[in-house]
Parts: sequence; C-alpha cells; structure tokens
Amino acid sequence: MISKGIPFGNDPRSPALRPNRSADVWFRFAGDLTEFDIAAARAVLSPIERKRCERFVFDCDRQTFAAGHALLRSTLTFHERLRSPQSWVFQTGSHGKPCLAPGQSELAFNMTHTAGLVACALANVESIGVDVESVERTANADEIAASYFSQREVLALEECAGLERQTRFIELWTLKEAYLKATGAGLSAPLNKFGFELCGASGLQFNPPDNTTIADWHFALFAPSPHYRLAVAVRSVQLIEFRVRGWPPGSTSAQLVPLRASRPIGSSAHEPLSTATVPV
Ligand SMILES: CC(C)(COP(=O)(O)OP(=O)(O)OC[C@H]1O[C@@H](n2cnc3c(N)ncnc32)[C@H](O)[C@@H]1OP(=O)(O)O)[C@@H](O)C(=O)NCCC(=O)NCCS
Repeated sequence: MISKGIPFGNDPRSPALRPNRSADVWFRFAGDLTEFDIAAARAVLSPIERKRCERFVFDCDRQTFAAGHALLRSTLTFHERLRSPQSWVFQTGSHGKPCLAPGQSELAFNMTHTAGLVACALANVESIGVDVESVERTANADEIAASYFSQREVLALEECAGLERQTRFIELWTLKEAYLKATGAGLSAPLNKFGFELCGASGLQFNPPDNTTIADWHFALFAPSPHYRLAVAVRSVQLIEFRVRGWPPGSTSAQLVPLRASRPIGSSAHEPLSTATVPV
C-alpha cells in the first residue's frame, strides 16, 4: 500500500500554505494477526514490555499489547533506519508519556491500542498524540459527555440521534484524547475546558483551553474501517501533511477513509489543508 498525498511539486496551494512537515501514522488490525505475526511482535519487545504483556489475563489483550509495542519499535526503525526494532530504549516523562532515552532520535511519537487495532504516529515536530477507539464502545456516552465534554460539544451531540450520536461521541472523544496525549497530560487534564467542532463535510475546529495558541495545533480524523476512528494531534509551527498507512508497508488490507482535518488560519474553507493520504 503506497500513500498518495498532494505531491509537493504540484501542490496548487500558495507556497505559504503548503505543508512542510509530515506526520506519519501507521495502523494495524490486531485481530488479523497470525501466530507467526504475534511471535514476531513478542520477539522485539524489551524484557520489561514482555513482563507487562504477560500480566494481561486475556490472550487478545496480550496480543494487542505486543502488536502495539512492536509496531512502535518497527516504525521507529523504518523511519530512522539506524537501529533494530529491539534496540530502542524508552523512558517515561511526567504523567507516563513515553519518550526515547537521549541520543537515539529527535522524532516525536505516540502509540495507541484498542481491542483489534493498534496505531502509532511519528513526526519531526514538537509533540504528537494519537488515539484509536471502536465506534461500538459507547456505554454511558451521555454521562461521559456531561462530565468531560465542553458545553459546545454537549450541544452538538444533543443535535444527533441514534448511530450518528454514537459515532459523533467517539469522534470527539478520540480527538480530545489525541490532544491530551500530544500534550502528555493524558486524562489528568480537565477535559471540558477545550473541545472540537466538526464543521461541514470535512472540517474540524479546535476550541483550545486557556493560554493555548490555536495556530500551533493540527488535527486529523480517519476511519481505518467503519468500526474504528483514529485521531492525530500535532503541535508544530509548520503546516502538517498527515500520511496514514497500514502496517506493514505495502499491505493492502486496510480501507482507510480520511474524514476530517483542521485548517490553518487564513485558508479557504474548501482546501484540504491537513492533507490526508489514502492507501491505494
Ligand atoms: C495516556 C492515557 C490517556 C491513555 O489512555 P488509553 O486510551 O487507555 O490508552 P491508549 O491505548 O490510547 O494509549 C496508551 C499508550 O499511550 C502512551 N502513554 C501513556 N501515558 C501517556 C501520556 N501521559 N501521554 C501520552 N501518551 C501516553 C503509552 O505508549 C501507552 O501505551 P502502554 O500503556 O501500552 O504503555 C491515559 O493512560 C492517561 O491519562 N494517563 C495519564 C495518567 C496520569 O496522569 N498518570 C500519572 C502517573 S505517572
């Protein structure tokens, strides 16, 4: 599967609006993995990761964990070429956000896993966050929204019914979590002090918390399959092109649909500013 974005050379946008940084997102359906894939994933984990993996009670959780951490290690190697997947050494920052131990790479990265799907995002930017959720995972959606969504988000949800409401809830949640994972605060931060509005067919607007500059943030939302949503948040002063692909490179099983992206200030409403790339 090859990614196909707007080629930089033929980009019809003004030079000021052309993306000058890319954010690479890789995803993999954990339910499709063979025993061979799972063994290969486990083989690249560190001893600590292997111990964490073994603590899960259910096989499916062990597989998802191994697939997620192996994906991160393999994609770091794919982009940096310098090291084997096994050799990356991680540290944790405040609130548990993993980063690389000094001297390995300047890439910002983040990883996420949910039942059946794992993903990671990497870019030469200040910070990046990624989240995946199943659209079917919506127990207590209204209660969660009342406590953790901004007033505007709650009102937007109330305008939807049935499946649309369920899907909208997951889309907003995924975007919020991607943002909090990019900041590193995770769910320790107040979730109702910022929010997202889904505008028109393909836009999204970030309503930031106090003291946050909206222009520094870029977001995109994808459907790796009809059952899942994947959101990416990037902090960067430069424009971002999102390249989202199924792992391993060249695989053809994924049917990614780019759904929405935020737009930098001053752009036309119809321009695909945070360019999603689609697998072909
Ligand atoms: C980060 C967090 C939002 C993840 O939620 P989730 O939906 O359950 O998990 P996801 O699958 O999307 O992401 C998990 C991965 O994100 C990464 N991660 C962990 N903490 C993170 C943080 N604060 N910021 C960004 N990424 C983080 C890890 O790679 C983690 O994988 P692992 O648990 O297998 O090691 C949640 O765990 C959280 O809020 N953590 C912070 C809690 C905190 O403040 N702890 C303080 C004690 S250090």
